[in-house]
Amino acid sequence: MSINILNSNKNDVKDAESLKQLEFIEQAKEKVAALEKNLGRKPTACVVTFGCQMNARDSEKLLAILKLAGYEEVETEDADFVIYNTCTVRDNADQRVYGRLGQCSNFKKKNPHMKIAICGCLMQEQSAVEKIQKSYRFVDLIFGTHNIYKFAELLNTTLDSDRMIIDIWKETDKIVEDLPVMRKYPFKSGVNIMFGCDNFCTYCIVPYVRGRERSRSPKDIIRECEKLAADGVKEVMLLGQNVNSYGFDFEEGDSNKITFAELLKMVCEVEGIERVRFMTPHPKDFSDDVIDVIAANPKIARHIHLPLQAGNNEILRRMNRKYTKEQFIDLAMKIRERIPDVAITTDIIVGFPGESAADVDDTIDVIKQVKFDNAFTFIYSKRTGTPAASMPDQVPEEEVKVNFDKLLKVVQDTAKEQAEKLQGRTERVLVEGVNEHDAALLTGRMSNNTLVHFPGDEALIGSFVDVSLDECHGFYYMGTMR
Ligand code: 5AD
Ligand code: SF4
Repeated sequence: MSINILNSNKNDVKDAESLKQLEFIEQAKEKVAALEKNLGRKPTACVVTFGCQMNARDSEKLLAILKLAGYEEVETEDADFVIYNTCTVRDNADQRVYGRLGQCSNFKKKNPHMKIAICGCLMQEQSAVEKIQKSYRFVDLIFGTHNIYKFAELLNTTLDSDRMIIDIWKETDKIVEDLPVMRKYPFKSGVNIMFGCDNFCTYCIVPYVRGRERSRSPKDIIRECEKLAADGVKEVMLLGQNVNSYGFDFEEGDSNKITFAELLKMVCEVEGIERVRFMTPHPKDFSDDVIDVIAANPKIARHIHLPLQAGNNEILRRMNRKYTKEQFIDLAMKIRERIPDVAITTDIIVGFPGESAADVDDTIDVIKQVKFDNAFTFIYSKRTGTPAASMPDQVPEEEVKVNFDKLLKVVQDTAKEQAEKLQGRTERVLVEGVNEHDAALLTGRMSNNTLVHFPGDEALIGSFVDVSLDECHGFYYMGTMR
């Protein structure tokens, strides 16, 4: 199955800024062609992505530009152009980038033509940029989240220069439509519906590095979904840091001002789109109209990722989450009641300043009551500049570890119990690929996001098939096609 680069043709592009960037791609092409002549082979490029689905989608835009400019995509960083799209939500993501950059400098010593770029959330932090300027002087290009749409232009400048190019913006209110984009999968795609976050949870760096909430117009979102469907996409995931506050930033009376529930309905109506997911909603904005639309619309995946973060009311208050333990449980129960078979997954942070073992027991109580189908559990990571970083009662690492392990055990037991409930059922799955460990098996994803492996032919990749769930292996199933 081939994947087209969407928006690579001027006729498909309406946005003036994107048209300008297409011109820059034309200029970059000439430089990459000259490099090809010089090297006697096609120059290669590698995009390394850290972090969330928003970053993954951004990387698909970066890769499209590199490919259009004439680079061949490779998976290893031993390439002629390497770009790191960074994350800074937790400290371990930062550290991984620095480790990888260090290794990459060895490749550059052997390949003087090599260009190394770094972008994404971490680059919105001044201290990180300073660190790279000081200790990673071999980096050629640094840019941030707000001007990622300028990558074609920056690529050109970098190919012309031997100096380190740095272009970081503090903020933007601009949304650039119709940038070239290359999907990782032919049959599914992320679709940004909004950028930024206005919630300011006290532990979180995202509002500082991704800026204020900006919604795309419904018209642009639907147009993108239509283009994707025409190109063979069957499943879309609507992406935003806080999807259910979609449209809040439009003025009253603006024809663009529709709710997230209305947007969901419109996306379901796009011909060819057979499954719709979204990530991530905030519990405080999860209104009944969204539940109604999901309940009434079988195209919308039976999977809701509902970040809890913590279960103790005082911790939730200090996190600025704007809901209580009781409100969260009521919401989750309402969702389970109104949408039978829904899987509810969550994010949990352990070790927020002041969190005691008894507070963690409140979180464990929520896990037991809601019965999460899965949970991403994180150890609190202090992010400089956030309110929580200067809270006095930071919890010692040892104590956090004990609480974390205790909670993780409950998460795993609950998830296993939930998964086992599907035993013997037949589910419609989207076939995503050949099993990584056994080439005779295919891997498919159910509406509720659970994976199932089953014997089948590669030609089925990208289509929906019915599979009976024969054997539960904790988080996944072994099955047979019906
Ligand atoms: N420390 C640990 N986890 C965090 N998250 C966000 N900020 C932090 C932090 N400072 C987690 C939250 C969020 C997920 C994407 O990352 O659980 O939902
Ligand atoms: Fe961070 Fe909270 Fe915004 Fe999520 S809602 S991105 S946790 S500030």
